[in-house]
Amino acid sequence: MEGGRRVLANLIHSQVDLHREFGGVVPELAARDHLERLPGLVDLALAKAEVAPGDIDLLAVTRGPGLVGCLLVGVGVGQGLAAAWDRPLTGVNHLWGHIYAAMLTRPELEPPLLGLVVSGAHSDLVRMPEHGRFEVIGRTRDDAAGEAFDKAARMLGLGFPGGPALDRLARQGDPKRQPLPKPSLPGLEYSFSGLKTALLYRLRDLGEGVTDQDRADLAAAFEQSVVESLLEKLDAALDEGPVGEVVVAGGVAANTLLRRRAAEVVEGRGRLTLPPLELCTDNAAMIAAAGSHGKVLPADVDPSLGWD
Ligand code: KG4
Ligand code: ZN
Repeated sequence: MEGGRRVLANLIHSQVDLHREFGGVVPELAARDHLERLPGLVDLALAKAEVAPGDIDLLAVTRGPGLVGCLLVGVGVGQGLAAAWDRPLTGVNHLWGHIYAAMLTRPELEPPLLGLVVSGAHSDLVRMPEHGRFEVIGRTRDDAAGEAFDKAARMLGLGFPGGPALDRLARQGDPKRQPLPKPSLPGLEYSFSGLKTALLYRLRDLGEGVTDQDRADLAAAFEQSVVESLLEKLDAALDEGPVGEVVVAGGVAANTLLRRRAAEVVEGRGRLTLPPLELCTDNAAMIAAAGSHGKVLPADVDPSLGWD
């Protein structure tokens, strides 16, 4: 990354093939694979960016939240490189990273902003008054949106990863043919576990007679309920006062319906930034972008699990 906003190299080693046969991420395999792949990936990124270690001012690594084994590998490699190259290292919050992905999309974007971060483990509404400061104003009581999509995809017999597969199937369905309830909690809280149970019962009722069209219709209905619930609270947060900039980010922000509907909900009330798909799902560029606002890591760092 150059200047915090210009990406020189952004490489990903996907673990999808590694985890596919298990139908979900196996933490132990994920951490081992990180350990095997990270050093080579760093070399490749330096080569692609045409940068030597001596040119680097700052290293940044994800400090959390996430799978502890993976975080420990990342932080360990970061500390090793920082020591070998004699450079400072900051620990970045993964959720901050998702918001900073929006600043790679529109380099002139600055806080204050209202953010919706939707990933495999989080559905958080946040206000960001300035760089490096976040106030969580809404979160989920149970499952995150991405987790709900992944579980629904599994119930519908779709492969891993579930979210993108459900997105594709929903495009062939009609959400009105097999409607599912839209979760609704007071205030800015989310809940997706009841919706998941509703899908389970509907599939049980359909039994062996379930058709491909039923499955597509159910995917569309499930997607609509999750998306409308996410946006209902964003809408309420927008009503609380003028915000100007609005960011929707995280893996679930790659969802086709969410992208379309978010644009409609924000229209006329703020300026929406949606990162392109490759910057919505986890990536290194977003961590580098947030890097200069991270905290310099002490040697005995622990993974962090919240927004701090
Ligand atoms: O941010 P992310 O890449 O990883 C975490 O930090 O969790 O988000 C991954 C989540 C997964 O649950 C995945 O199924 C979901 O994002 N996801 C999607 C789509 N693409 C990724 N969910 C719905 N529609 C998509 N197109
Ligand atoms: Zn993420």
